[in-house]
Amino acid sequence: MKRKKMIVANWKMNPPTLSEARRLAGGVKRAVSGLSKIKVIICPPFIYLPAICSASKNKVSFGSQDVFWKEKGAYTGEVSPRMIKDVGAKYTIIGHSERRALGETNEMINRKIKAALKEGLSVILCIGEKERGSDGSHFKFLQEELLEGIRGVPKKSLKNIIVAYEPIWAIGRHAKDAMKPEDMHEMAIYIKKVLAEKHDKNAALSIPILYGGSAEPSNTEDMLRDGQADGLLVGHASLNLGDFKDILHIANKV
Ligand code: PGA
Repeated sequence: MKRKKMIVANWKMNPPTLSEARRLAGGVKRAVSGLSKIKVIICPPFIYLPAICSASKNKVSFGSQDVFWKEKGAYTGEVSPRMIKDVGAKYTIIGHSERRALGETNEMINRKIKAALKEGLSVILCIGEKERGSDGSHFKFLQEELLEGIRGVPKKSLKNIIVAYEPIWAIGRHAKDAMKPEDMHEMAIYIKKVLAEKHDKNAALSIPILYGGSAEPSNTEDMLRDGQADGLLVGHASLNLGDFKDILHIANKV
């Protein structure tokens, strides 16, 4: 059976109010109700999760944008995997480049991934290079982000990992500045190869590889078809209901 394309909305630190968050989530929910070939996951700021998750008993799933590795305790400002699960979310993004830019290391990301998996959350691990050199050094960089991130993750948990490849140079721009589909195809093959060499081949090959970085309606079809991405991690275009609905409809047809 063909796997459903996964479309993840990363709202980042948006929208500014809960009522707007509710409206946006409600719009997505209505849009998804007739679409059977995609899986949609909304990742709002932590504070909106309980309200939005509880209002949604349908095809949309929810995730957080980060998580901490401890179960509880004196960790001011942090949120545990259990708390995220308890309000109804099933996913968490880990290692987004905007968090890495604030000091998150591969080691911290690895601890977060293991803690989230242990609690039964599915992990969307973000990797991506800042720039590309002609010497191909970004391949080695990505390999390290990937393998350090999932170091020590048991084989049985690999099915709960999703990799989002997001070249940093393509984030927050326009579709025309995004990665070209043929380059994404190359990256999807590379990521699968790295995973398959290090882990159980079948388990590694079944890990979905998403593309992120200025995914918009105009490049959705190309990225999913020619880029061979198993889905998209959508930032700014997920905040515009019209654009996001277009992405969902296009993805449902690919
Ligand atoms: P963008 O963000 O779609 O606005 O480029 C993607 C992301 O950072 O996850």
